Amino acid sequence: MFLSAAVRSAVSHTARQVRGLHRSAVRSGAGGIFVHRDTQDNNPETPFEFTEENKKRIQVILSMYPEGHKQAATIPVLDLAQRQHGWLPLTAMNKVAEVLGVAPMRVYEVATFYTMFQRQPVGKYFIQVCTTTPCMLCNSDSILEAIQNKLGIKVGETTADKMFTLIEVECLGACVNAPMVQINDNYYEDLTPKDIENIIDELKAGRVPAPGPRSGRFSCEPSGGLTSLTGPPTGPGFGVRPDL
Ligand code: FES
Repeated sequence: MFLSAAVRSAVSHTARQVRGLHRSAVRSGAGGIFVHRDTQDNNPETPFEFTEENKKRIQVILSMYPEGHKQAATIPVLDLAQRQHGWLPLTAMNKVAEVLGVAPMRVYEVATFYTMFQRQPVGKYFIQVCTTTPCMLCNSDSILEAIQNKLGIKVGETTADKMFTLIEVECLGACVNAPMVQINDNYYEDLTPKDIENIIDELKAGRVPAPGPRSGRFSCEPSGGLTSLTGPPTGPGFGVRPDL
């Protein structure tokens, strides 16, 4: 069977993958198992209360949803709780349920579904490596391997100095800039193993590198350069409907 060079390259990358195409990313570590187990840091007595500032933010968020549909604010209010506490103990999820007026289970099922929510303490820098198909075909394994080697941790682990936590996630919506990782709120894209090593060095030195593509292209422009809209638009009535 004839295979193009691009497909052969993709197949060769795929052959090296630890994670098969038919399997989900490892869901462990920071996200935790799907059931709660009491620990010293995370039990029904763990203190959690929204700050006064965040209580005001919650009121603004809730005002966007009509009566009877406040549950729709689950994700933004959970996100607020996590930004305040650093992660989501059981009591934070219970508090979110209380302010939304829903059963705690409605909040638990959201917090356990999305990898953006961590139910265990995480490091200062939370690294999410996308290994879904487009990133996988652009060799996301080499990025994952470079991070593991650089930090000496595996997926789901946190460094001893509590600086970095590493997890593997499904598509983060930046496939055109594959391979990519998310570190806290920033996307780092078009990565090579050397790029991610440099990014980690910068973070260790207390600097936050500029997010975006490392290939030099702007945003998600074609990697081979622009093929259209390369000059100022021309033509009669540009920007104005001729019939007006
Ligand atoms: S597959 Fe990695 S961002 Fe979509």
